[in-house]
Amino acid sequence: MDTAADRLKIAVQKSGRLTEQTMQLLERCGLKIRKSKDQLFCYGENMPIDLLLVRDDDIPGLVGEDVCDLGIAGLNVIEEKRLNGTFESGQTPFHELRQLGFGECRLSLAAPEAQEWSGPQSLEGRRIATSYPALTRDYLDRNGVNADVVYFSGAVEIAPRLGKAEFISDLVSTGSTLVANQLVELETLLDSQVALIQTNAPLSDAKQEWIDRLLQRMEGVMQVSESKYIMLHAPRTAVAEITRILPGSEAPTILPLEGIDDRVAVHAVCRENVFWETLESLKAAGASSMLVLPVEKMLA
Ligand code: PRP
Ligand code: ZN
Repeated sequence: MDTAADRLKIAVQKSGRLTEQTMQLLERCGLKIRKSKDQLFCYGENMPIDLLLVRDDDIPGLVGEDVCDLGIAGLNVIEEKRLNGTFESGQTPFHELRQLGFGECRLSLAAPEAQEWSGPQSLEGRRIATSYPALTRDYLDRNGVNADVVYFSGAVEIAPRLGKAEFISDLVSTGSTLVANQLVELETLLDSQVALIQTNAPLSDAKQEWIDRLLQRMEGVMQVSESKYIMLHAPRTAVAEITRILPGSEAPTILPLEGIDDRVAVHAVCRENVFWETLESLKAAGASSMLVLPVEKMLA
């Protein structure tokens, strides 16, 4: 199982908004990589997995054309590619395996403050600058509006100032790009986050096994990032109430405390973040000596 053909190839963003968290996720799944000189290709040293570092917009295409088996990219580029469907077969040649819970952003319609807006019909006969023509046209079609979609490969936010368009549809994450360009967000066209996609082409059993393994590890990593291990002391009579307050926890472990009869130690894994408010409620219910710890790994 270590010929080049049997190694899983994953397309990931080379440098940008998603790169750091993508690499972190793969590392937390146990992948150790060696970068090649040209830094376009990363060789997995401890698993039969290699990474291809590319522009995020190219990821769905590379998976669709079977150059890579898997891809990690935003739903924005995945849905754009699915809609503009320039695939030979006429069908989308990849499918989504799971969303990965990071890289949240949205594709939104925006315009200069002075632009009149009373809903999608305000777009009639206007020009919209975007790097997402297919998603933007789809929105126009759904709303039965005719408008010109003007393609920009980047710097979409300056199109209104250049007189190239009245509106833009662009990705918004913090919103600071819009503010800096005195643009107002009007409507969301698509909510996006990062997803893992797989080619529809049949893969060898060996490759498919590694995909299943990777998915299971991702599942674990994602659960862990939210999960906390909590330890506290509580009156024996308050255990039921305290279990109820603990966020997303299953049956806790109850342990006796040496020399104390009416109090016990409660240990539990919480599947959600534990906030100060929760600790305060626990204290009010009689808990003391509370300790919240991060969870390193988890396997169901
Ligand atoms: C997007 C978008 C804006 C910016 C918005 O670009 O085109 O420029 O992010 O982010 P903000 O709301 O936090 O200011 P992206 O990072 O996706 O770069 P890319 O188009 O090169 O992929
Ligand atoms: Zn991009």
